[in-house]
Amino acid sequence: MAASKDGKSKSASTSPSSSIKEVKPNLHQQSHETQRYGEIIKLPNGLSEKVCKQSVALLNQCLADTITLRDMYKKHHWQVVGPTFNQLHLMYDQHYEGQVLLVDIVAERIQLLGGVALAMAPDIAETTQIARPPRGREPAAVQLRRLAEAHEQIIISARDAAEQVDKSGDAGSNDVFVSNVLRTNELQVWFLTEHLVAASPVTA
Ligand SMILES: [Fe+2]
Repeated sequence: MAASKDGKSKSASTSPSSSIKEVKPNLHQQSHETQRYGEIIKLPNGLSEKVCKQSVALLNQCLADTITLRDMYKKHHWQVVGPTFNQLHLMYDQHYEGQVLLVDIVAERIQLLGGVALAMAPDIAETTQIARPPRGREPAAVQLRRLAEAHEQIIISARDAAEQVDKSGDAGSNDVFVSNVLRTNELQVWFLTEHLVAASPVTA
């Protein structure tokens, strides 16, 4: 530690008020955006910027639809009513958890490709292709129908996106669309629609 003329170390001569400034939180920080939505930061992953941009756009659409479906599961988990209440209440939450995992996988795939993942509710609402359900309560059969339709929309888009990213050479995104998005949604559709058979007490 360097000593000053009077023999005291530099740190010892620092006034208490200037030391406090170093540890006091600055709660008024502001900045411009450091990466705009839609821009790609090129990372050393062997993929061109053009390929990453195309994959990121497809993944962001999938992300917006998946977040919407995730939230629709929670809505229906809370609002379900009828003789199958307990069964549906629990199944909706299991499926919600599956969609939560998907959201993180898709969002992090976007970031690792150098893109920016959508996140906030207004941006999701503007981007999703899934129809908005009413705020109020609906019968369980209608909940199931709505969920099945949303799943099918995501499944169709995921198959198409998987083909596109495969053609462009982005094998990692192809894996996410097939192994994660497609497989999870196909499985959840099966569990949902088995509640809609003729013998089921779930009818609108
Ligand atoms: Fe709950």
